[in-house]
Amino acid sequence: MIDPDSFRQFEHSGWQKIPRQYHQAFGELTTQSIEPLLDAAAVKTGTKLVDIATGPGYVAAVAARRGARVIGVDFSATMIAEARSRNPDIEFRDGDAEQLPLGNDLFDSAVVNFGILHLGRPDQALAEACRVLRPDGRFGFTVWAKPEEAIGFGIVLSAIAKHGNQNVPLPEGPPFFRFSEPDECIRSLLTAGFQSPKVVKVAQVWQLPSVDSLFEVMKDSTVRTAGLLRAQKPEVLEQIRLAIRDESKQYQKADAIELPMPAVLASGTKP
Ligand SMILES: C[S@@+](CC[C@H](N)C(=O)[O-])C[C@H]1O[C@@H](n2cnc3c(N)ncnc32)[C@H](O)[C@@H]1O
Repeated sequence: MIDPDSFRQFEHSGWQKIPRQYHQAFGELTTQSIEPLLDAAAVKTGTKLVDIATGPGYVAAVAARRGARVIGVDFSATMIAEARSRNPDIEFRDGDAEQLPLGNDLFDSAVVNFGILHLGRPDQALAEACRVLRPDGRFGFTVWAKPEEAIGFGIVLSAIAKHGNQNVPLPEGPPFFRFSEPDECIRSLLTAGFQSPKVVKVAQVWQLPSVDSLFEVMKDSTVRTAGLLRAQKPEVLEQIRLAIRDESKQYQKADAIELPMPAVLASGTKP
């Protein structure tokens, strides 16, 4: 059974430890969907924007370059420190996506780039995003496409399914790929109070330096997948590592591994 508070605690302690590793592993990847996300949320010069689960502040930085007036919010103090050091001119606040430290009807736009899938209470976070938007305000979020399409996850999860134990003692969270289903995004956006929901796919490619990189970044630079990997017995983990290495070989291009990692981008408008 899902205990959202234990899951939140697990996610929080995980993110607190890895701001730098996350940046090194995912910085070139999650930034690929920023422009379509900001377009979906109608962000332009003068837009008042909140970037929820901002992490190192990537979306906030691009929005500021568009001329938006942006605040980034994250529940991890170390992520906020990373965001502030990268973007000294942008305001960042400690805060929970499920209970935003922000008043009602304040923003023209709100976005969450690859954050919703890390929450114990994602529906509450969608409702919170709606609450802080003014009427006609725009909201957008991204998540990973299903593992059959987001190949990095597909390779790792198949290797764990084949060689590992999936019933390890970790706090259970909502399904990682729940919002990879367009119908689920639409249903959830409508339930949270948005109208005119739309869902599109965004192509992204993850370039990794070697056939060993995928295993390493998933083990050292994520939270839930890393927890699953680290909970395996050493000999099982070695089998998983080798299986990931083998599968990665087919994505070798010249000097790099190139993995398709598309995103699902969902958006809606506050009535
Ligand atoms: C995958 S990272 C995404 C970071 C960034 N938005 C990007 O585009 O790469 C997920 C972020 O969500 C934050 N996060 C997870 N749960 C949260 C919560 N309940 N409230 C606020 N932030 C949360 C984590 O600290 C982490 O920075």
